[in-house]
Amino acid sequence: MASLLWTLATLGAALVPPANAGRPQDSGEYIGQKPLLQMDCLPGPLTHDAYLPSCLSMTSNANRTTPSSPWTHAPYCAGASHYCVHTSNDLYGPDRGVSIIDGGTSKDEKSPAVLAAERIAAADAATLTVRKEPAPPPWEVRNIPGKGKGMVATRKILRGQVFMVDRAAVVADMNFPQRMESADGRAMLHEAFHRHPAAEQLLTLARSSLDPENVPAPEDIMRTNSFTLEIGGKSYMILFPRIARINHACRPSALTRFNETDFSNTVTAFHDILPGEEISISYSSFGLTSEQRQKTLLSKWGFDCTCSLCTSPPAELTASDARRTKIQQLGGKAIKLVEQGTSSNDKEVAKKKLRRAAEVYAELVETVEEEALVPHMGDHYEALGRLVAVAGDLEKGKEWLRRGKQEREEYEKAGKEDEL
Ligand SMILES: *[C@@H]1O[C@H](CO)[C@@H](O)[C@H](O)[C@H]1NC(C)=O
Ligand SMILES: *[C@@H]1O[C@H](CO)[C@@H](O)[C@H](O)[C@H]1NC(C)=O
Repeated sequence: MASLLWTLATLGAALVPPANAGRPQDSGEYIGQKPLLQMDCLPGPLTHDAYLPSCLSMTSNANRTTPSSPWTHAPYCAGASHYCVHTSNDLYGPDRGVSIIDGGTSKDEKSPAVLAAERIAAADAATLTVRKEPAPPPWEVRNIPGKGKGMVATRKILRGQVFMVDRAAVVADMNFPQRMESADGRAMLHEAFHRHPAAEQLLTLARSSLDPENVPAPEDIMRTNSFTLEIGGKSYMILFPRIARINHACRPSALTRFNETDFSNTVTAFHDILPGEEISISYSSFGLTSEQRQKTLLSKWGFDCTCSLCTSPPAELTASDARRTKIQQLGGKAIKLVEQGTSSNDKEVAKKKLRRAAEVYAELVETVEEEALVPHMGDHYEALGRLVAVAGDLEKGKEWLRRGKQEREEYEKAGKEDEL
């Protein structure tokens, strides 16, 4: 029962936006992993052209306090706060670094992101299994009319394929802007960007401030492009330089998945992406209605949603909103019924509640499918199968489980066909 509840809770959580929603992260499974660090050299942070030169360049150890420390610069600490900028020029390989703005509750306490980076540096290469990307990359950054820059597929990307693996370039405690004078905060962001080995490229990322003259570029860029994600239970704004080039869509063609252990963020194709097609991810949480979407996008990223769903005819938009509202409601209802069913001591009542939960959930699954909200229906079919089985119909439950497994396998297989 525990696993059923967990699945439902996860599905519910995936469909109902968290209060502090940043760019969403898929909660599904990580698809197939391969050791990457066995390769001697990782590609540069922004372009594959950087691969060879960066392999050849040597990083100086002059600034390291101890040989195993990842930090290549002395910490830059501002004001009276406990916040400091920590920079490593080569955390993920030569010339692939990270800048972290973080602070513990006291001067000597290390914060979660700093600890995580030190663990990455200390880890045995074989235990870090960052997924490999296709080479050459099947995408390029182009100018997109009306949207500034965007990412376009240069060859077919198959559904389920991981086609990009980005690493965190700038990590900043979500709350640091509120904890210090703005001059100190801006000075820290300035250091975090300018000490980074890819500073020049980071500073070309999109800005959205309406008053760019008076807002420093690093602040504007963080605000416009960073994800809100957790490391060690604490919220951070994290900038992924290549993913930052992918534009928003309400029905995106790709989704991202962050791994807080190695700071990687993998991008997986949601459906087949054809050469010339723009690649998109959803900046607002999945399942938001058009009004919620506009609000999140405008307040968090400063732009109007102009994707094909947002600008579709009113009737279509209304239908989509109705489906998304229905999904949120059915999710809440199903979870409640499961809770009631599993906590009741009366066997008949329990059975009735669970049967009703299965019906509600079946309707949710159908609506999710109609609205094309997830890359494959496997998880939903499997959750439904388990629910149907505990509600008393074992045969039908098994049938859903089989379908779910098949869906997942097809999706995973599709993604592996083009692997290089
Ligand atoms: C060492 O640290 C100083 C001051 O933080 C910085 O200017 C310099 O670039 C660093 N050297 C290297 C090799 O990272
Ligand atoms: C996250 O990264 C670590 C280290 O590379 C790896 O061992 C782990 O399996 C990854 N987790 C997921 C969910 O992919």
